[in-house]
Amino acid sequence: MMQIKPTLAFLLILFGLLSNQANSQNLFTNVYGRQVTSLNGEWQYIIDPYETGFFDYRFKEKGERDPGAYWNSGVPWDKTAMIEHGYSDKQTLNVPGDWNSQDRVFLYYEGTVWYKKSFDYQKDAATNRVFLYFGAVNYQADVYLNGKKLGTHKGGFTPFQFEIDAGLLKEKDNFVVVKVDNKRHKDEVPTVNTDWWNYGGITRDVLLVETPEVFVEDYFIKLNSPTASLKPSMKKAEITGWVKLNGAKIGEPVTIEIPELKAKTTINYTGSVASFSMNLKKVKLWSDNNPKRYELVISTSQDQLRDKIGLRKIEVSGKDILLNGKSVFLRGICMHEEYPVEMRRATSKLDALKLLGWAQDLNCNFVRLAHYPHNEHIVRAADSLGMLLWSEIPVYWTIDFGNPEVLEKAKVQLNEMITRDRNRPSIIVWSVGNETPVSPTRTEFMKNLVLKAKELDDSRLVSAALEVHYNKDKNIINDPLGAYTDIVSVNEYLGWYVGLPSYCQTAQWETVYNKPLIFSETGAGAKGGYLADSLTRWSEEYQEWFYKEQVEMMKRMPENYTGLTPWILVDFRSPKRNNPTYQEGWNRKGLIDEKGNKKKAFFVLKRYYEELESNNP
Ligand code: GCU
Repeated sequence: MMQIKPTLAFLLILFGLLSNQANSQNLFTNVYGRQVTSLNGEWQYIIDPYETGFFDYRFKEKGERDPGAYWNSGVPWDKTAMIEHGYSDKQTLNVPGDWNSQDRVFLYYEGTVWYKKSFDYQKDAATNRVFLYFGAVNYQADVYLNGKKLGTHKGGFTPFQFEIDAGLLKEKDNFVVVKVDNKRHKDEVPTVNTDWWNYGGITRDVLLVETPEVFVEDYFIKLNSPTASLKPSMKKAEITGWVKLNGAKIGEPVTIEIPELKAKTTINYTGSVASFSMNLKKVKLWSDNNPKRYELVISTSQDQLRDKIGLRKIEVSGKDILLNGKSVFLRGICMHEEYPVEMRRATSKLDALKLLGWAQDLNCNFVRLAHYPHNEHIVRAADSLGMLLWSEIPVYWTIDFGNPEVLEKAKVQLNEMITRDRNRPSIIVWSVGNETPVSPTRTEFMKNLVLKAKELDDSRLVSAALEVHYNKDKNIINDPLGAYTDIVSVNEYLGWYVGLPSYCQTAQWETVYNKPLIFSETGAGAKGGYLADSLTRWSEEYQEWFYKEQVEMMKRMPENYTGLTPWILVDFRSPKRNNPTYQEGWNRKGLIDEKGNKKKAFFVLKRYYEELESNNP
């Protein structure tokens, strides 16, 4: 029999996969639809740049019961106890939140911070199960409860949770410790080089989630009516979907209901996912013009989970993007997950409404959430506002494309992003990356991610910000990755990184793909309030001129031009931006400055979008 010697790479992947699976459990969706206990608020912390809490003085990992390990409380058991660490209310950080914006000692900090939170917990029913859920931790989280390791998660922008063994949780005096390490590494996602602030910390909600023994873990509902039949209000419509239960036996009945439409169906659980279809009457579709949502109720004998869903269809037809069967132009803008006025990660629903409100002021119907999955409050706010979204994993610039483990890490983040948001109508594009340098290895890596995204969700468009082949006569859009994406999206900076804005007047564009074309970035810097003539870089007038020339160039684009998301809605923090007069650690390409003031260029883009909307209601 032929012996197949597993290669070292294969063994490493296998180990990586197994260790990841050993730690991160199947994510359940719609955690906000459940009764949860929030652990948000003040957490005590220890800054630990030398990893003293994890390694002994010979740099060997400390034993689980070592009282000097920082996952243990540090409370002396008596006056002779030799304990050198401790947690105190003298040092606390707010959760959710990045650490960088909460104290000057953290502004540029990259390393480990230990967080600790004490809590009591009374289960509703003895047979219920309890999970510890994190909306996101940047970048690596090692989670401990009452001194026991629950698991490890890598990836700074997607949720994860660990089930807590019944015997571990006490009614009184529990304490959770999270070792957070935001150091950048070449073989992580993103890699060491990014043009955004490396905000570290427990940056999103922390929740205790209690479920019955058998509960609804995941589900997917999609509009299945033929495109030709779609209109804003439909007499009849068909939806299909599936429900995944956790802990269920074969035959467990699952009921799916949309009360407002008096629609209900019951299916029996088959052991993998229980599929279903339903015919609905008098349905209003979700769209950017009418974000109509319906309450969805999924119940089993023990569990009931509610969600708000929107029924809509997004697809490509030749050069057009069709939303509910009608071609749509994406009047967009890019946005980081940052509330600049307070120089911090955006964390709350209020932050979400402020940022998306600015996009509405710009007359946008589309936002590119750059360059990583944003928090769930932003996505759910977009659902309610009718703001279409592009959601992206941070496969950004010079990722280690030749490393199979890095591909697996990117796939884990892709899966966590799609699992969390696959029922959010606002998201129409999954993006697998941004401005990755063209090479056969990179294109193979990215193609794998496109195929994985489609495997996880065949109901949305898949793209990435591709590369342009610039030359003085004609800019050719022929990035080989464009052969695999549903829409071709490219970033261009003619007039900022290439020549003056007048360069746009003669620029010619050509694409080799008969697909919808989006300009996923274009932009110029301006310091808010710096007024000068239009030839003076960093002035608001230069940026205004840039946008005027860009708009005129967009009017001359090939007919498959279907969307624009300029870079960027609002100034954002970046350690790469160090001009002492105009930047001071800020990327100034925002149309709004860090104080919330709209720059002159804001109104150029707003007028362009108003024209587009009036010409194409
Ligand atoms: C790139 C990149 C952005 C970056 C921008 C810039 O296109 O995608 O993340 O911030 O350029 O240079 O400002």
